[in-house]
Amino acid sequence: MDFDSKKLEAYYSDAREDISLSEIDLDRIPSHVSIIMDGNGRWAQERGLDRSRGHVAGVDSLRETVTTCVRLGVDALSVYAFSTENWKRPQREVNLLMHLFATTLVKELPLFHQENVRLRFLGDLEALPKETLKVFQRGLDETADHTGMEFALAVNYGSRAEITRAARSIAQDVASGALSLDDVSEEAISSRLYTSGLPDPDLLIRTSGELRLSNYLLWQLAYTEFYVTPKYWPDFDRWEFLRAVRAFQSRNRRFGGVVSK
Ligand code: FPP
Repeated sequence: MDFDSKKLEAYYSDAREDISLSEIDLDRIPSHVSIIMDGNGRWAQERGLDRSRGHVAGVDSLRETVTTCVRLGVDALSVYAFSTENWKRPQREVNLLMHLFATTLVKELPLFHQENVRLRFLGDLEALPKETLKVFQRGLDETADHTGMEFALAVNYGSRAEITRAARSIAQDVASGALSLDDVSEEAISSRLYTSGLPDPDLLIRTSGELRLSNYLLWQLAYTEFYVTPKYWPDFDRWEFLRAVRAFQSRNRRFGGVVSK
């Protein structure tokens, strides 16, 4: 995606950091970056605060990350906001998160307009509170004709449920004769996933140092490069994003082939 190099340089003008924009090859920015935003609760608890304060602080990191991705010319950003397993959290925390998703979305719509960001959701939205759903629909409608970065929010998302849903849809189509057995291909599966139409992520970032996928994009991450930072999500900023991109650019992606020189 095109980007404004003047704006980007101004955005990264703080020389106090141990990394600078000059270390990044701007022609090799990952096209799709996906993030498991983790550590909000621990960030808050370490400060003697309620976990909810961590989620509120996490919104600021997310806003900065959307802007960072736009500035760098990332084509798609996807983030794991709420998993199918997160319903097991205390009801109060679930309610807060649902409320936060809705209020944040309304508040950030001007940013999406300003930066031409198109919104989409990954996950089963039917189980969400009506109010949250209404706001999500508004976000989809208002950004539908935007042509800039795609921003995918995974809410009530679980990868196994997603793959099961795709398998059921294929089985139905085969049973009805709409699809022949020979046409059951990787593309047929991909096109039935919530991510249909999005390229697979090039880079997956996970914060808070955990080394697991937590049922996130199991199919789509087959050849994705991982970057794990010990920083909690509320401490994640444009500089940590740059470190992740630097790490990504130092990798040799072979996609199962041989080393390219
Ligand atoms: C992980 O931290 C974070 C979440 C489950 C929720 C993610 C939500 C936000 C970043 C808030 C903003 C998002 C939107 C879309 C407005 P955790 O609670 O699992 O932290 P812990 O592992 O330290 O307990």
